[in-house]
Amino acid sequence: MNKIIKDQLKKLKPSATLQINEECNRLKKIGKKIYKFGFGQSPFPVPDSVILALRNNANKNMYLPMQGLEELRATIAKDLNKNNNNQFESEDIIVGPGTKELMFLTQIAFDGDILLPAPSWVSYEPQAFIAKNKVHWIKTSSNTNWFPTGKQIEDKIKNIKYKNLLLIINSPNNPSGTVCKNLKEIAAIAKKYNLVILSDEIYSKLTFDKNYLSISNFYPERTIVSTGLSKWCGAGGWRLGFFGIPKELNELKKSLKILCSESFSSVSAPVQYAAIEAYKGNHSEYLNRVIKILSFTGDYVYKNLKSNVINIAKPEGGFYIFPEFTNAKFSTSSEMCKDILNKTGVALLPGSDFGLENDQMVARLSYTDFDGAIFLKNTLGSNKLDNEDIKKNAPNIVDGIAALKEWSNSL
Ligand SMILES: Cc1ncc(COP(=O)(O)O)c(C=O)c1O
Repeated sequence: MNKIIKDQLKKLKPSATLQINEECNRLKKIGKKIYKFGFGQSPFPVPDSVILALRNNANKNMYLPMQGLEELRATIAKDLNKNNNNQFESEDIIVGPGTKELMFLTQIAFDGDILLPAPSWVSYEPQAFIAKNKVHWIKTSSNTNWFPTGKQIEDKIKNIKYKNLLLIINSPNNPSGTVCKNLKEIAAIAKKYNLVILSDEIYSKLTFDKNYLSISNFYPERTIVSTGLSKWCGAGGWRLGFFGIPKELNELKKSLKILCSESFSSVSAPVQYAAIEAYKGNHSEYLNRVIKILSFTGDYVYKNLKSNVINIAKPEGGFYIFPEFTNAKFSTSSEMCKDILNKTGVALLPGSDFGLENDQMVARLSYTDFDGAIFLKNTLGSNKLDNEDIKKNAPNIVDGIAALKEWSNSL
Protein backbone atom coordinates (compact mmCIF):
# COMPACT_ATOMS: atom_id res chain seq x y z
CA MET A 1 0.00 0.00 0.00
CA ASN A 2 1.13 3.54 -0.70
CA LYS A 3 2.34 5.46 2.26
CA ILE A 4 0.23 8.56 3.00
CA ILE A 5 1.85 10.02 6.11
CA LYS A 6 5.43 11.37 6.24
CA ASP A 7 7.71 9.18 8.39
CA GLN A 8 8.72 12.20 10.43
CA LEU A 9 5.10 12.78 11.54
CA LYS A 10 4.50 9.15 12.44
CA LYS A 11 6.80 9.71 15.41
CA LEU A 12 4.41 12.25 16.94
CA LYS A 13 2.41 10.80 19.83
CA PRO A 14 -1.28 11.63 20.35
CA SER A 15 -1.41 14.47 22.86
CA ALA A 16 -1.41 13.55 26.53
CA THR A 17 -4.58 15.52 27.07
CA LEU A 18 -6.38 13.42 24.50
CA GLN A 19 -5.26 10.19 26.14
CA ILE A 20 -6.33 11.30 29.59
CA ASN A 21 -9.70 12.44 28.24
CA GLU A 22 -10.29 9.05 26.66
CA GLU A 23 -9.48 7.27 29.92
CA CYS A 24 -11.73 9.68 31.85
CA ASN A 25 -14.60 8.98 29.46
CA ARG A 26 -14.14 5.25 29.84
CA LEU A 27 -14.23 5.50 33.64
CA LYS A 28 -17.22 7.86 33.55
CA LYS A 29 -19.10 5.34 31.43
CA ILE A 30 -18.71 2.72 34.13
CA GLY A 31 -20.07 5.17 36.69
CA LYS A 32 -16.88 6.47 38.32
CA LYS A 33 -16.75 10.03 39.63
CA ILE A 34 -14.00 11.95 37.80
CA TYR A 35 -12.21 15.07 39.02
CA LYS A 36 -11.18 16.90 35.86
CA PHE A 37 -7.83 18.32 36.93
CA GLY A 38 -6.09 17.30 33.71
CA PHE A 39 -7.45 19.75 31.21
CA GLY A 40 -6.51 23.43 31.46
CA GLN A 41 -8.94 26.04 30.32
CA SER A 42 -10.52 29.06 31.94
CA PRO A 43 -13.75 28.15 33.75
CA PHE A 44 -15.02 31.74 33.55
CA PRO A 45 -17.46 33.30 31.08
CA VAL A 46 -16.35 36.02 28.66
CA PRO A 47 -17.13 39.53 30.09
CA ASP A 48 -20.63 40.69 29.09
CA SER A 49 -19.49 43.76 27.14
CA VAL A 50 -17.14 41.61 25.03
CA ILE A 51 -19.95 39.15 24.27
CA LEU A 52 -22.15 42.08 23.29
CA ALA A 53 -19.44 43.40 20.96
CA LEU A 54 -19.25 39.97 19.32
CA ARG A 55 -23.01 39.87 18.91
CA ASN A 56 -23.09 43.39 17.46
CA ASN A 57 -20.44 42.48 14.93
CA ALA A 58 -21.84 39.14 13.79
CA ASN A 59 -22.68 40.81 10.47
CA LYS A 60 -19.00 41.50 9.69
CA ASN A 61 -18.50 38.95 6.97
CA MET A 62 -15.54 40.15 4.93
CA TYR A 63 -11.99 38.90 5.17
CA LEU A 64 -9.98 41.35 7.24
CA PRO A 65 -6.36 42.41 6.68
CA MET A 66 -4.10 39.44 7.26
CA GLN A 67 -2.11 41.15 10.04
CA GLY A 68 -5.32 42.09 11.90
CA LEU A 69 -7.59 45.16 12.03
CA GLU A 70 -5.62 48.38 12.38
CA GLU A 71 -7.78 49.57 15.28
CA LEU A 72 -7.32 46.27 17.10
CA ARG A 73 -3.57 46.30 16.57
CA ALA A 74 -3.30 49.89 17.82
CA THR A 75 -5.36 48.97 20.90
CA ILE A 76 -3.22 45.91 21.56
CA ALA A 77 0.02 47.90 21.18
CA LYS A 78 -1.26 50.41 23.73
CA ASP A 79 -2.16 47.63 26.15
CA LEU A 80 1.27 45.98 25.81
CA ASN A 81 3.03 49.32 26.29
CA LYS A 82 0.88 50.32 29.26
CA ASN A 83 1.74 47.31 31.33
CA ASN A 84 5.39 47.18 30.44
CA ASN A 85 8.15 49.32 29.07
CA ASN A 86 7.49 48.27 25.47
CA GLN A 87 7.27 50.62 22.52
CA PHE A 88 5.14 48.60 20.16
CA GLU A 89 3.28 50.33 17.35
CA SER A 90 0.32 48.87 15.53
CA GLU A 91 2.58 47.72 12.68
CA ASP A 92 4.54 45.55 15.16
CA ILE A 93 1.48 43.48 16.05
CA ILE A 94 0.35 40.32 14.25
CA VAL A 95 -3.07 38.93 15.17
CA GLY A 96 -3.59 35.20 14.71
CA PRO A 97 -6.14 32.45 15.47
CA GLY A 98 -4.59 31.81 18.90
CA THR A 99 -0.96 32.21 19.86
CA LYS A 100 -0.43 28.49 19.28
CA GLU A 101 -0.72 28.99 15.52
CA LEU A 102 1.60 32.02 15.57
CA MET A 103 4.16 30.05 17.58
CA PHE A 104 3.91 27.20 15.12
CA LEU A 105 4.53 29.48 12.16
CA THR A 106 7.44 31.09 14.04
CA GLN A 107 9.00 27.67 14.42
CA ILE A 108 8.50 27.06 10.70
CA ALA A 109 10.22 30.35 9.86
CA PHE A 110 13.03 30.26 12.42
CA ASP A 111 16.42 29.05 11.21
CA GLY A 112 18.00 27.68 14.36
CA ASP A 113 17.55 25.59 17.47
CA ILE A 114 15.02 25.94 20.28
CA LEU A 115 15.92 26.28 23.97
CA LEU A 116 13.18 24.98 26.23
CA PRO A 117 13.18 25.03 30.01
CA ALA A 118 11.89 21.75 31.46
CA PRO A 119 9.05 21.87 32.38
CA SER A 120 7.45 23.62 29.40
CA TRP A 121 4.00 23.70 27.86
CA VAL A 122 3.16 20.53 25.90
CA SER A 123 3.06 22.01 22.40
CA TYR A 124 6.42 23.74 22.02
CA GLU A 125 8.40 20.53 21.47
CA PRO A 126 6.03 18.88 18.93
CA GLN A 127 5.88 22.16 17.02
CA ALA A 128 9.70 22.21 16.89
CA PHE A 129 9.65 18.60 15.75
CA ILE A 130 7.22 19.33 12.90
CA ALA A 131 9.28 22.38 11.89
CA LYS A 132 12.45 20.24 12.06
CA ASN A 133 14.06 22.46 14.69
CA LYS A 134 16.31 20.81 17.25
CA VAL A 135 15.23 21.20 20.88
CA HIS A 136 17.67 21.62 23.75
CA TRP A 137 16.05 21.09 27.14
CA ILE A 138 17.29 23.04 30.15
CA LYS A 139 16.50 21.20 33.37
CA THR A 140 15.04 23.23 36.19
CA SER A 141 13.73 22.28 39.62
CA SER A 142 11.32 23.43 42.27
CA ASN A 143 14.34 24.98 44.06
CA THR A 144 14.48 27.64 41.34
CA ASN A 145 10.69 27.95 41.11
CA TRP A 146 10.78 25.75 37.95
CA PHE A 147 12.61 28.41 35.87
CA PRO A 148 16.18 28.15 34.57
CA THR A 149 18.97 30.22 36.09
CA GLY A 150 21.16 32.35 33.83
CA LYS A 151 24.04 29.92 34.45
CA GLN A 152 21.96 26.90 33.43
CA ILE A 153 21.04 28.64 30.19
CA GLU A 154 24.63 29.68 29.51
CA ASP A 155 26.00 26.20 30.26
CA LYS A 156 23.55 24.77 27.76
CA ILE A 157 24.40 27.34 25.08
CA LYS A 158 28.13 26.66 25.47
CA ASN A 159 27.48 23.06 24.39
CA ILE A 160 25.60 24.02 21.26
CA LYS A 161 27.58 24.55 18.07
CA TYR A 162 25.09 26.43 15.94
CA LYS A 163 24.23 29.39 18.11
CA ASN A 164 21.19 30.81 16.36
CA LEU A 165 18.80 30.14 19.20
CA LEU A 166 15.25 30.86 20.21
CA LEU A 167 14.50 30.65 23.94
CA ILE A 168 10.91 30.24 25.10
CA ILE A 169 10.06 31.68 28.52
CA ASN A 170 6.52 31.24 29.83
CA SER A 171 5.63 33.17 32.98
CA PRO A 172 3.22 32.69 34.76
CA ASN A 173 4.02 29.15 33.86
CA ASN A 174 2.08 26.24 32.53
CA PRO A 175 2.56 23.63 34.11
CA SER A 176 4.05 24.93 37.38
CA GLY A 177 1.86 27.97 38.12
CA THR A 178 4.98 29.91 39.17
CA VAL A 179 6.22 33.34 38.10
CA CYS A 180 9.79 33.88 36.87
CA LYS A 181 11.77 36.05 39.31
CA ASN A 182 15.13 36.16 37.48
CA LEU A 183 14.03 37.75 34.21
CA LYS A 184 16.85 40.30 34.32
CA GLU A 185 19.49 37.60 34.67
CA ILE A 186 17.97 35.57 31.81
CA ALA A 187 17.76 38.70 29.65
CA ALA A 188 21.47 39.41 30.24
CA ILE A 189 22.42 35.93 28.95
CA ALA A 190 20.04 36.34 26.02
CA LYS A 191 21.74 39.63 25.14
CA LYS A 192 25.21 38.11 25.45
CA TYR A 193 24.35 35.34 22.96
CA ASN A 194 22.00 37.38 20.79
CA LEU A 195 19.12 34.96 21.40
CA VAL A 196 15.61 35.52 20.19
CA ILE A 197 13.21 35.22 23.14
CA LEU A 198 9.63 34.16 22.69
CA SER A 199 7.95 35.39 25.84
CA ASP A 200 4.73 33.41 26.18
CA GLU A 201 2.65 35.73 28.36
CA ILE A 202 -0.73 34.09 27.83
CA TYR A 203 -1.33 34.05 31.64
CA SER A 204 0.11 37.53 32.34
CA LYS A 205 -3.22 39.15 33.22
CA LEU A 206 -3.86 36.31 35.66
CA THR A 207 -0.78 37.08 37.79
CA PHE A 208 -1.98 36.93 41.40
CA ASP A 209 -0.03 39.92 42.72
CA LYS A 210 -1.17 41.89 39.64
CA ASN A 211 2.33 43.31 39.04
CA TYR A 212 3.19 41.47 35.89
CA LEU A 213 6.71 42.02 34.64
CA SER A 214 7.65 41.02 31.10
CA ILE A 215 11.16 39.96 30.12
CA SER A 216 10.75 42.40 27.22
CA ASN A 217 11.52 45.18 29.74
CA PHE A 218 15.09 43.92 29.95
CA TYR A 219 15.65 42.75 26.37
CA PRO A 220 13.15 44.64 24.22
CA GLU A 221 15.19 44.46 21.04
CA ARG A 222 14.81 40.70 20.42
CA THR A 223 11.86 39.61 22.57
CA ILE A 224 8.61 38.60 20.92
CA VAL A 225 5.69 39.11 23.29
CA SER A 226 2.98 36.50 22.82
CA THR A 227 -0.45 36.72 24.41
CA GLY A 228 -4.17 36.89 23.67
CA LEU A 229 -7.76 36.44 24.76
CA SER A 230 -7.78 32.75 25.66
CA LYS A 231 -7.01 32.76 29.37
CA TRP A 232 -7.81 36.13 30.98
CA CYS A 233 -10.98 36.65 28.95
CA GLY A 234 -12.23 33.05 29.16
CA ALA A 235 -12.27 32.94 25.37
CA GLY A 236 -10.00 30.05 24.36
CA GLY A 237 -12.58 28.84 21.86
CA TRP A 238 -12.79 32.21 20.12
CA ARG A 239 -9.23 31.73 18.90
CA LEU A 240 -7.56 35.10 19.01
CA GLY A 241 -3.97 35.66 20.04
CA PHE A 242 -1.21 38.01 18.94
CA PHE A 243 2.50 38.74 18.86
CA GLY A 244 4.27 42.02 19.52
CA ILE A 245 7.43 41.87 17.42
CA PRO A 246 10.24 44.41 17.94
CA LYS A 247 11.63 46.28 14.92
CA GLU A 248 14.98 44.46 15.12
CA LEU A 249 13.12 41.24 14.24
CA ASN A 250 11.40 42.75 11.19
CA GLU A 251 12.79 40.06 8.92
CA LEU A 252 11.05 37.42 11.04
CA LYS A 253 7.87 39.49 11.08
CA LYS A 254 7.91 39.75 7.29
CA SER A 255 8.27 36.01 6.93
CA LEU A 256 5.57 35.35 9.53
CA LYS A 257 3.17 37.63 7.65
CA ILE A 258 3.68 35.58 4.51
CA LEU A 259 3.18 32.31 6.39
CA CYS A 260 0.02 33.72 8.00
CA SER A 261 -1.44 34.82 4.69
CA GLU A 262 -0.66 31.43 3.15
CA SER A 263 -2.26 29.53 6.02
CA PHE A 264 -5.17 31.11 7.95
CA SER A 265 -5.62 34.29 5.82
CA SER A 266 -7.07 36.36 8.68
CA VAL A 267 -8.74 35.86 12.06
CA SER A 268 -12.54 35.68 12.23
CA ALA A 269 -13.90 39.21 11.65
CA PRO A 270 -16.52 39.37 14.47
CA VAL A 271 -13.95 38.05 16.96
CA GLN A 272 -11.48 40.78 15.97
CA TYR A 273 -14.10 43.48 16.51
CA ALA A 274 -15.02 41.97 19.87
CA ALA A 275 -11.32 41.90 20.80
CA ILE A 276 -11.18 45.69 20.37
CA GLU A 277 -13.69 45.92 23.22
CA ALA A 278 -11.72 43.34 25.22
CA TYR A 279 -8.56 45.48 25.03
CA LYS A 280 -10.11 48.96 25.01
CA GLY A 281 -12.75 48.46 27.68
CA ASN A 282 -12.01 48.55 31.38
CA HIS A 283 -12.32 44.99 32.67
CA SER A 284 -10.44 45.49 35.91
CA GLU A 285 -13.42 44.57 38.07
CA TYR A 286 -13.99 41.32 36.18
CA LEU A 287 -10.27 40.52 36.33
CA ASN A 288 -10.03 41.33 40.05
CA ARG A 289 -12.84 38.93 40.78
CA VAL A 290 -11.44 36.20 38.54
CA ILE A 291 -7.99 36.57 40.13
CA LYS A 292 -9.50 36.53 43.61
CA ILE A 293 -11.17 33.19 42.88
CA LEU A 294 -8.15 31.66 41.15
CA SER A 295 -5.63 32.79 43.77
CA PHE A 296 -7.84 31.62 46.64
CA THR A 297 -8.51 28.27 44.97
CA GLY A 298 -4.80 27.84 44.14
CA ASP A 299 -3.92 28.63 47.72
CA TYR A 300 -6.53 26.17 48.98
CA VAL A 301 -5.05 23.41 46.81
CA TYR A 302 -1.51 24.34 47.86
CA LYS A 303 -2.30 24.33 51.58
CA ASN A 304 -4.43 21.19 51.53
CA LEU A 305 -2.12 19.13 49.36
CA LYS A 306 1.31 20.13 50.63
CA SER A 307 2.70 17.60 53.10
CA ASN A 308 5.92 15.98 54.12
CA VAL A 309 5.56 13.67 51.09
CA ILE A 310 4.15 16.18 48.59
CA ASN A 311 6.42 19.06 47.51
CA ILE A 312 4.75 22.00 45.78
CA ALA A 313 5.74 25.49 44.73
CA LYS A 314 3.11 28.07 45.73
CA PRO A 315 0.93 29.07 42.77
CA GLU A 316 1.51 32.65 41.62
CA GLY A 317 -0.59 32.97 38.48
CA GLY A 318 -2.75 31.12 35.95
CA PHE A 319 -4.53 27.98 37.14
CA TYR A 320 -2.00 25.20 37.55
CA ILE A 321 0.02 23.62 40.33
CA PHE A 322 2.78 21.06 39.93
CA PRO A 323 2.99 18.67 42.89
CA GLU A 324 5.84 16.22 43.35
CA PHE A 325 4.92 12.98 45.14
CA THR A 326 8.20 12.18 46.81
CA ASN A 327 7.14 8.77 48.15
CA ALA A 328 5.61 7.51 44.88
CA LYS A 329 7.47 4.51 43.42
CA PHE A 330 6.29 4.09 39.85
CA SER A 331 8.47 3.51 36.81
CA THR A 332 7.09 6.64 35.11
CA SER A 333 4.97 9.67 36.04
CA SER A 334 2.51 8.43 33.44
CA GLU A 335 2.08 5.14 35.38
CA MET A 336 1.61 7.19 38.53
CA CYS A 337 -1.14 9.30 36.91
CA LYS A 338 -2.92 6.14 35.72
CA ASP A 339 -2.84 4.77 39.26
CA ILE A 340 -4.18 8.05 40.68
CA LEU A 341 -6.97 8.15 38.10
CA ASN A 342 -8.01 4.54 38.69
CA LYS A 343 -7.91 4.71 42.48
CA THR A 344 -9.26 8.21 43.11
CA GLY A 345 -10.89 9.46 39.90
CA VAL A 346 -8.47 12.44 39.88
CA ALA A 347 -7.22 13.18 36.37
CA LEU A 348 -3.75 14.77 36.18
CA LEU A 349 -1.16 15.13 33.43
CA PRO A 350 2.25 13.51 34.00
CA GLY A 351 5.34 15.69 34.32
CA SER A 352 6.96 13.75 31.46
CA ASP A 353 4.53 15.44 29.05
CA PHE A 354 6.15 18.74 29.98
CA GLY A 355 9.73 17.63 29.39
CA LEU A 356 10.57 16.20 32.83
CA GLU A 357 12.35 12.86 33.10
CA ASN A 358 9.98 9.87 33.09
CA ASP A 359 10.99 8.90 36.61
CA GLN A 360 10.29 12.29 38.19
CA MET A 361 7.09 11.75 40.17
CA VAL A 362 5.56 15.11 39.29
CA ALA A 363 2.17 15.86 37.71
CA ARG A 364 0.25 18.93 36.58
CA LEU A 365 -2.97 19.72 38.38
CA SER A 366 -5.37 22.25 36.87
CA TYR A 367 -7.67 23.64 39.58
CA THR A 368 -10.44 24.73 37.24
CA ASP A 369 -13.01 21.97 37.81
CA PHE A 370 -15.81 24.35 38.81
CA ASP A 371 -18.40 26.54 37.14
CA GLY A 372 -16.79 29.98 36.97
CA ALA A 373 -20.05 31.79 36.20
CA ILE A 374 -21.67 30.45 39.39
CA PHE A 375 -18.56 31.08 41.48
CA LEU A 376 -18.44 34.70 40.20
CA LYS A 377 -22.13 35.24 40.88
CA ASN A 378 -22.05 33.78 44.39
CA THR A 379 -19.04 35.83 45.45
CA LEU A 380 -20.10 39.17 43.99
CA GLY A 381 -19.35 41.85 46.58
CA SER A 382 -17.23 39.56 48.82
CA ASN A 383 -13.98 41.24 49.70
CA LYS A 384 -12.36 38.11 50.95
CA LEU A 385 -13.12 34.49 50.18
CA ASP A 386 -13.00 31.69 52.72
CA ASN A 387 -13.10 27.88 52.71
CA GLU A 388 -16.90 27.93 52.79
CA ASP A 389 -16.86 29.66 49.37
CA ILE A 390 -14.69 26.86 47.98
CA LYS A 391 -16.90 24.15 49.51
CA LYS A 392 -20.00 25.73 48.05
CA ASN A 393 -18.70 26.76 44.63
CA ALA A 394 -15.94 24.29 43.89
CA PRO A 395 -16.88 21.02 45.64
CA ASN A 396 -14.93 18.95 43.12
CA ILE A 397 -11.77 20.78 44.11
CA VAL A 398 -12.38 20.02 47.79
CA ASP A 399 -13.23 16.34 47.25
CA GLY A 400 -10.62 15.70 44.55
CA ILE A 401 -7.80 17.24 46.59
CA ALA A 402 -8.85 15.23 49.67
CA ALA A 403 -8.84 12.02 47.60
CA LEU A 404 -5.42 12.82 46.14
CA LYS A 405 -3.96 13.53 49.56
CA GLU A 406 -5.38 10.27 50.88
CA TRP A 407 -3.87 8.43 47.91
CA SER A 408 -0.42 9.88 48.66
CA ASN A 409 -0.71 8.97 52.35
CA SER A 410 -1.56 5.38 51.45
CA LEU A 411 1.62 4.83 49.43
C1 LIG B 1 1.51 28.18 28.01
C2 LIG B 1 0.52 28.29 26.92
N1 LIG B 1 0.85 28.95 25.80
C3 LIG B 1 -0.02 29.05 24.78
C4 LIG B 1 -1.26 28.49 24.83
C5 LIG B 1 -2.14 28.59 23.61
O1 LIG B 1 -2.98 29.63 23.69
P1 LIG B 1 -3.89 30.10 22.46
O2 LIG B 1 -5.28 29.81 22.86
O3 LIG B 1 -3.58 31.58 22.35
O4 LIG B 1 -3.47 29.36 21.25
C6 LIG B 1 -1.67 27.80 25.97
C7 LIG B 1 -2.99 27.16 26.02
O5 LIG B 1 -3.23 26.18 26.65
C8 LIG B 1 -0.75 27.70 27.05
O6 LIG B 1 -1.07 27.05 28.18
